[in-house]
Amino acid sequence: MRIAMIGTGYVGLVSGACFADFGHHVTCIDKNDEKVAMLRSGGVPIYEPGLDLLVQRNVREGRLEFATDLTDAVRDADAVFIAVGTPSRRGDGHADLTYVYTAAEEIAAAMDGYTVVVNKSTVPVGTGDEVQDIIAKARPDAEFAVVSNPEFLREGAAIDDFKRPDRVVVGAETEKARTVMREIYRPLFLNETPILFTSRRTSELIKYAANAFLAMKITFINEMADLCEQVGANVQEVARGVGLDNRIGSKFLNAGPGYGGSCFPKDTLALTRTAREAGAPARLIETTVEINDTRKRAMADKIVKAMGGDVSGKTIAVLGLTFKPNTDDMRDAPSLDIIPALQKAGAKIRAFDPAGRHEAEKLLTDVEFTSGPYLCAEGADALVIITEWNEFRALALDRLKDAMSGKVMVDLRNIYTPDDVRSHGFDYVSVGR
Ligand code: UDX
Repeated sequence: MRIAMIGTGYVGLVSGACFADFGHHVTCIDKNDEKVAMLRSGGVPIYEPGLDLLVQRNVREGRLEFATDLTDAVRDADAVFIAVGTPSRRGDGHADLTYVYTAAEEIAAAMDGYTVVVNKSTVPVGTGDEVQDIIAKARPDAEFAVVSNPEFLREGAAIDDFKRPDRVVVGAETEKARTVMREIYRPLFLNETPILFTSRRTSELIKYAANAFLAMKITFINEMADLCEQVGANVQEVARGVGLDNRIGSKFLNAGPGYGGSCFPKDTLALTRTAREAGAPARLIETTVEINDTRKRAMADKIVKAMGGDVSGKTIAVLGLTFKPNTDDMRDAPSLDIIPALQKAGAKIRAFDPAGRHEAEKLLTDVEFTSGPYLCAEGADALVIITEWNEFRALALDRLKDAMSGKVMVDLRNIYTPDDVRSHGFDYVSVGR
């Protein structure tokens, strides 16, 4: 199969490289000259474990190409994937579909012969219909189908998620389009990955419903954590106790500072907007959004309280800034709410993140960035873990304690055992334990 992939963000680049690795011929297109030049020379503009090697190998073996202009690739393609950004629109929280519609117009102009246009970007229900209209209007002669094929990959585990997904969802209205999609994903069926064919609108909704459910699951356990703190219970044991029920499942029950990232905050908000407009308000999701927003700010209060109620003039060492480990992504990271709130309360912030510094420097002000956890702790009154990078899981606690001038440790990811940390002389506070 010949595939054109429009957009080289997380979803586009990972999907493009993985499809090439399946044996298809893929051209990834991005309007950004510098990005394309970098990719052609074997560089990868995002931080994702294993992606650089995957890209380099497939470029070397001639299956993966990059271009700034889509004309040639779209003309020759059996399937054109749209994997452009759909950010939250300023003001109303709806998904901004400008990039999707522009891509549709450009694809229409270049298409030749039967082409399946596949939406991989997360788009509100009905967007496939719009894309279909745009193309049909521009090219009444063209033979094409518009398909929805949402992507469920997680940052930091993207390649594995793409190659070993729980399922593939395809929303297509014709058998001809389904046949092309089956052929594209055939290598996955060897591992017996289920492929679920639905209508286009259903498929579009599945993506939002999945993300909203996961966001709700996290928010649920975060509320249980708050309750545990009040009644003297342990949230990790609660999570294990309920998670072992197969109907609930143990994943995504880790209490923490609230979910962030490029998907959950944006997609939950967009779903509430769609649902309101459709006259079927998604009240559980609306509440989830609200609780999660408040939670990030409440974490700053938790830290202040752990430090005795006053942080003015105190130094706080923060470990982990990105919204989760194994990424440099700072989008909607809890650190972006917590750090400014601590600064406002008068604290001085020193920080360390294994990969997020470059992005964090653009978003945070007056933070002293350090190059390792112990340097970060040097002279600090308190140490706060916001993101659970592996390298923070086994710190030498004595060395850490010696480096600090205070003894407060706030672990917002529950990566340490309370008794253990306390035995090293720390005043230790975690979440829901
Ligand atoms: C998510 C979905 O998992 C993925 O299927 C979708 O395609 C895109 O959105 P991602 O945003 O990369 O992926 O990260 P994920 O691992 O899902 O974590 C999202 C946020 O939830 C992070 O801030 C994480 O720290 C938080 N989280 C996750 C928790 O607080 N507790 C958990 O138990 C799990």
